[in-house]
Amino acid sequence: MTDTGLLFDPLDPAYIADPYPAYQRVRTVDPIHEHPYGFWFVSGYDDVSAILRAAMSVNDRLLEDGLVRQQFDDLDEGDGRVLALTMLDRDPPDHTRLRSLVSKAFTPRKIAELEPEIVTLVDQALDRMAEAGRTDLVETLAFPLPFEVISAMLGMPSTDRDRVRDLSGTLVLSLEAATDAETAKLITAASTELVGLVRQLIERKRAEPGDDLLTALIAAESDGDRLTDDELIAQVVLLYVAGHETTVNLIANGVTALLRHPDQLALLRERPELTANAVEEMLRYDSPVQMSRRITVEPYQVGDRVIPKGAFVLAALGSANHDERYWGADAGEFRIDRENARHHVSFGAGHHHCLGAALARLEGKIAIERLVSRFPRLALAGEPTGNGRSNLRGLASVPISVG
Ligand code: HEM
Repeated sequence: MTDTGLLFDPLDPAYIADPYPAYQRVRTVDPIHEHPYGFWFVSGYDDVSAILRAAMSVNDRLLEDGLVRQQFDDLDEGDGRVLALTMLDRDPPDHTRLRSLVSKAFTPRKIAELEPEIVTLVDQALDRMAEAGRTDLVETLAFPLPFEVISAMLGMPSTDRDRVRDLSGTLVLSLEAATDAETAKLITAASTELVGLVRQLIERKRAEPGDDLLTALIAAESDGDRLTDDELIAQVVLLYVAGHETTVNLIANGVTALLRHPDQLALLRERPELTANAVEEMLRYDSPVQMSRRITVEPYQVGDRVIPKGAFVLAALGSANHDERYWGADAGEFRIDRENARHHVSFGAGHHHCLGAALARLEGKIAIERLVSRFPRLALAGEPTGNGRSNLRGLASVPISVG
């Protein structure tokens, strides 16, 4: 890394390309690290697990003045305020109310019902790959699969989807390590447009209800005062973004790991019943979401350090998933038969634990299973390109050949 005097620099391209050596350095040298950029970085498995379940807030307004607070203030312009109403940004009791309304659409039965549609979407993508011979995994499968699934769940018309894809790609930059004023402007413009689009969509659904999640949420909204208009918009945008900007990374990072470890690919071909566990190992080995954030509401003792009240804490999921003290000396290896792979913290924990985990697992399992069994000569056909993100860590393209 460049000589910045920092233990690690989240803006350093080398860190973004491969954060795992930096995580290891932090875990060894200063595992509960107060970073000069204004956040606390917690890197060990036990500490991360505890912080995710601790009585902390996710309300950025509780941050003390400082660098991180300034960044959130910049993002708060215009309709950015509406998006601060997602369940991901609310504490109980609001969090509990919003989550319980939305979670009705994510019961195990509702998710299992999506299986035939996911199989069809995967097979259509594999047909396109077979025809092309050489293709980009992200464009043909990893992106369209979760995007089409969440679009259909919400009842988003296909005419709006390309624009929503662009806007969502800009919006998620707000989750990255640092946003400059220029990027903050772009994010604010994208939030405003996306909020406007969803507002229009809600109007259309009110006039013409459908058999979809958005219509169900509108019904919940009119059922007493449980959900305001702005809250409804915020949850829809959250579901849209969380529904695809993460699972794309699971499939792209996961297939890349598999293709870079031919012994593991061979093992999976020999024992396809390992697919579900292989998906857990993919989530652990290269986590699609690298950080969860919390704000302390009182001084918090962790190890021999005390994090003060009003501090911005990053629970480093990707680092916890590679902590040798928890996983053993082979923590950095990719092993699809790892017995405790499912203990990863890639979906977070505590009351913000990922609401879409079962859906993501189902999409990942069907995609990997059918991709591997359909193409016996599946291989990388070039170097994958990173998406340049340190939090929603993924790949912009993964050239593969299938013939
Ligand atoms: C929350 C990861 C897929 C919806 C979270 C959190 C993580 C996460 C780490 C917790 C953040 C925190 O602790 O503050 C992932 C990963 C995915 C994935 C790695 C794919 C591999 C999905 C999908 C959906 C979804 C497919 C919906 C369709 C949500 C929602 C929350 C959430 C609504 C907020 C829960 C709350 O605040 O109570 N996700 N997610 N996620 N995720 Fe996911």
